[in-house]
Amino acid sequence: MSEPVSPRDQWSSRWVFVLAATGSAVGLGNIWKFPYIVGENGGGAFVLLYLFCVLFITLPIMMAEVLLGYLGKRDPIDTMAELAHRAGASRRWGVIGLSGVVAGFLILSYYSVIAGWTMAYIGHAAGGDFNGADVAQISGLFDDLLASPWRLLGWHSLFMVLTIAVVARGVRAGLEKALTILMPGLLLLLVALVLYAATTPAFAEGAAFLFKPDFSKLTASAVLVAMGHAFFTLSLGMGAIMIYGSYLPAGSSVARVSLVVALADTVIALLAGLAIFPLVFTHGLEPGQGPGLLFVTLPNAFAQIVGGQVVGCGFFLLMLFAAWSSAISLIEPAVAWMVERFGWSRLKAALVGGVIAWATGLLTVVSFNLAADFHPLGGSLTMFELIDFLTTNVMLPLGGVLIALFAGWRLLPADRIAAMADVPAVVVQLWLWSVRIVAPVAVLLVMVAAIASALQVPMPWE
Ligand code: PHE
Repeated sequence: MSEPVSPRDQWSSRWVFVLAATGSAVGLGNIWKFPYIVGENGGGAFVLLYLFCVLFITLPIMMAEVLLGYLGKRDPIDTMAELAHRAGASRRWGVIGLSGVVAGFLILSYYSVIAGWTMAYIGHAAGGDFNGADVAQISGLFDDLLASPWRLLGWHSLFMVLTIAVVARGVRAGLEKALTILMPGLLLLLVALVLYAATTPAFAEGAAFLFKPDFSKLTASAVLVAMGHAFFTLSLGMGAIMIYGSYLPAGSSVARVSLVVALADTVIALLAGLAIFPLVFTHGLEPGQGPGLLFVTLPNAFAQIVGGQVVGCGFFLLMLFAAWSSAISLIEPAVAWMVERFGWSRLKAALVGGVIAWATGLLTVVSFNLAADFHPLGGSLTMFELIDFLTTNVMLPLGGVLIALFAGWRLLPADRIAAMADVPAVVVQLWLWSVRIVAPVAVLLVMVAAIASALQVPMPWE
């Protein structure tokens, strides 16, 4: 394969890759989304399913993505096209990268709006709005925020500017340094919040909700949501991890770094659940209330603890950073592609990408107020919910399956063998089985079952 056109940036070490990929994986998905979808889908059984999906479906796919990036050393579109070409297959495999770029824009469009909520909440915490507030007042703050398209738009715009600013400078100059401090900070604060939750009367009830499976609560759509989230939370199926893998220095262990990232991401999601559900039950809140869950539970804790103003501020600030480091990876595949394919400057590419994602985000902004009753497909989903559903539960799993099939069947064995030389042979065999057969079949089965249940077609085992 010819060398990339321009000398490319590389992480300073494989640990920086781990940090960056963890920064991408750990985001709103872990702290905001995971608890509320667990709440909506009945708790423990859903958590178990999700862990199952991570272990058997997405962890192997993560290794595949890192591997392809590491071998291709380009943006995801050209990486897939080149590696396919090299193995004697069509360059059209690049289309997978392209659909990933589209998914990235769509996800970033609403991700930025939600990240905007965390910025608004930094303001609330700093201004002392939670101090001594009761449950109703705290819910009121959230409802007021959603009701105002202008406030949502302002925060969404500001967050997009932050994202563009870092991406334009190159990931290494900006993010690498900040992440070294911020990710451990987030972990510490989460542990502290779990310890606080442990002092509340409903800690056992909250923990049981999270860890005690009740399979009667599972539906076919819950299985789809658990699987989709396993992709979303690990940033898989759209090229983010592939592009980060492409900046890995030579000699890195693809398997080991993937494992560390998946583990860190899972631990953080479970900690967030442990911090949030005890508060839900202590304050008599509804676990299935949806996207507002985090924003109406934790402020209740901040309202009551000593120094809640500072802790609250710190928490939402760290959450903003977690979202920021994920947002950057959502747009990086597109930006790298524009730079490497068209020779644009990073600034130009970041601006063009950012404006597209920002404009698409307007659909989400109005989904909570002006267009709250607009359901494009006629069902109950708003535009925000539809974009989230399509990207997380359809585009990411399908993209991930194609990446897996490609790595399993199409990649030159010599490439694979060289990059996985450090991995015990049995692990390589397990991985191959998984990306060739197990993960693709599992994803397709879950999708078929979910579609059938939506259309109310009985399945053979029913
Ligand atoms: N993994 C991120 C989160 O959990 C979201 C994300 C998805 C980032 C896909 C990049 C790509 O918040």
